[in-house]
Amino acid sequence: MRNIIPDQIEGYFEKSSLIRKMFEVGISMKKQFGAENIYDFSLGNPDVPPPKEVGESLAKQAEEVSQPLSMGYMPNAGLPAVREMLAEDLSEEQKVELSPDNIIVSCGAAGAINSFLRAAVEPDEEVICPIPFFGEYFFYVENFGAKLKPVQSKENFKLDIDAIEATITEKTRAIIINSPNNPSGQIISEEEIIALSAVLTKKSEEYDRPIYLISDEPYRFLIFENAHVPPILPHYEFSLVIGSYSKSLSLAGARIGYIATNPNMREVAKLTAAITMTTRVLGFVNASIIAQKIILHSKGVGVDVNIYDERRIAMAKVLDEAGIKYQMPKGAFYFFPEVPEGFDDLEFVDLLQKHKILGVPGRAFGAPKFFRLSFCVSAKVIEASGPAFKAVMKEARSTKS
Ligand SMILES: Cc1ncc(COP(=O)(O)O)c(C=O)c1O
Repeated sequence: MRNIIPDQIEGYFEKSSLIRKMFEVGISMKKQFGAENIYDFSLGNPDVPPPKEVGESLAKQAEEVSQPLSMGYMPNAGLPAVREMLAEDLSEEQKVELSPDNIIVSCGAAGAINSFLRAAVEPDEEVICPIPFFGEYFFYVENFGAKLKPVQSKENFKLDIDAIEATITEKTRAIIINSPNNPSGQIISEEEIIALSAVLTKKSEEYDRPIYLISDEPYRFLIFENAHVPPILPHYEFSLVIGSYSKSLSLAGARIGYIATNPNMREVAKLTAAITMTTRVLGFVNASIIAQKIILHSKGVGVDVNIYDERRIAMAKVLDEAGIKYQMPKGAFYFFPEVPEGFDDLEFVDLLQKHKILGVPGRAFGAPKFFRLSFCVSAKVIEASGPAFKAVMKEARSTKS
């Protein structure tokens, strides 16, 4: 039988194979050697248990479930009380007065990005993103017939504003930034946001149509050493902020997030109505009512960031002792170290695997000179991985010297 699935989707198996392969290798290695003997830094699956408020909300929801429509349909943009709460929280965070009309509750950040792209981007248009980037953006953009245009960043992962400007054409519809960044753990500074905004304002005027700035921020809460994640909305008219509770409440499987439109954007009501509509017609319909009630009950609550900070420090020590170079993450739960001289990322990740360490090759994020280690595992596992990292580097030096 021919054409069971389109060639494009067939091709995705190959394109998305790096993280999937690590996932499968992880399962089979854990079976073979025992889970406790594998240092699995491949997945960004937040393992810190959700705060107690999540359980309280579920218990309350169980009690109230027999009331009519307790689990019924709702407005596509979400429960009014949740939109009100988000408008209040985001007004404070973004230093711009948002109303509930600026908020659409989504099926995670992933759902929000897809709803936005469907609402705003036409086939053959282009969406820019700085390297390194969350690899799924590639698929999200292609879902709507558009093209992702990754742009090289400067050496220390700083935005290369000139390179971004040079990539903008009359086909550019949006740029997606992600800070704190998966995979680099770096934060985009306010100066960078201001410089980027100036370029986008100029180019939107030049082409006489908006170039949207999408700030994907699922890790905004997860910052270390008093780092600051600047607001976006005050700096650029055509900006939107996307957030998620996947990491902040460890609700990754509950699929809950939001998108906020800039109240000072021209015709913001039209764009917001379009995203509400696409949330519906893409089949999300609305974000899970159970998850919406959970976040309402958990206002102001988050997982303990100190747990991640302890792991970050433990991982830095392990990498230092092994002689692996990296830039210290200021946020999120990833290290993005350099692949040692003489190796490519695939080769080096294979060598890690030989020593029972699982990481992800940097090319999955557009940056093949690096590899990603996620610290969604206990500090104990990180500390125990020290000798394996040292053995990897010893072997790396001896094979390439
Ligand atoms: C940068 C980035 N954006 C979006 C997502 C998707 O998040 P969600 O689970 O809220 O859909 C992730 C998940 O890891 C991410 O790292």
